[in-house]
Amino acid sequence: MLFDVLNRYDLKEVYINDINSELITTYKTIRDELESLTSLLSQMQADYWQADTDNRKVYYYDRRERFNALKLTESGDVELAALFVFLNRTCFNGLYRVNSKGGFNVPMGSYKKPTICDIENLRAVSAQLKRAEIVCGDYKQSRDFIDMFTFAYFDPPYRPLSDTANFTSYAQDGFGDDDQVELAQFIDEVSDKGAAIVVSNSDPKNTNESDDFFDELYCKHVISRISANRMINSAGNGRGKVNELLIATF
Ligand SMILES: C[S@@+](CC[C@H](N)C(=O)[O-])C[C@H]1O[C@@H](n2cnc3c(N)ncnc32)[C@H](O)[C@@H]1O
Repeated sequence: MLFDVLNRYDLKEVYINDINSELITTYKTIRDELESLTSLLSQMQADYWQADTDNRKVYYYDRRERFNALKLTESGDVELAALFVFLNRTCFNGLYRVNSKGGFNVPMGSYKKPTICDIENLRAVSAQLKRAEIVCGDYKQSRDFIDMFTFAYFDPPYRPLSDTANFTSYAQDGFGDDDQVELAQFIDEVSDKGAAIVVSNSDPKNTNESDDFFDELYCKHVISRISANRMINSAGNGRGKVNELLIATF
């Protein structure tokens, strides 16, 4: 979404935010330290491509352990960013999921020759990110950045489609219904300033026709149901073609 917007419009100021500090470190490293990053990534790609299945397994789980160790010490930014990209390109379905202690725990995927170092793409991303203020923290920190001339897109953790769905999350603290309500209140607040806001989320009606959680929460705004193809969901009827919500304040 960000890169699509950046490629289409000449914006005066750009701001992106996420609470996941490894993701933000990766964005900043792609922006500021591209050469060091691609040199690590091309080495990882060569190592991975030449390994047989057993050695790949050892390599993957070793890199995953190293990533989790660096995460804890909050050090080695370029190596951490390289590992973030490596894991994203080689793990199961490109999923990012952490356990209750914050450790990345996605198993290895099965790709023959995954592109780990896509230099052209990383160069383009780096150039685009040079225009962006990249912030790690709670989304509410964006409050002062938003005024009547702002377009903002919020892509929060999706509300699980079933009570038993327990994808415990992008971040250690999860994102429950109370957080969804708080986000909706924040969106009302900034949309009252005149900003144009779009939010995406899951559609509870995929699994429970009478679940009006978001219809009630965002009743003041325009709710569209969009058909999307989704590979990952712990609820079976949340996979394949499912509806998702796009909520617009304008
Ligand atoms: C559906 S994902 C969107 C990912 C992001 N749009 C991207 O493609 O990189 C939801 C994101 O919300 C982030 N998140 C969760 N709680 C947050 C909070 N309180 N403030 C900011 N970001 C948060 C997660 O770390 C996760 O990256």
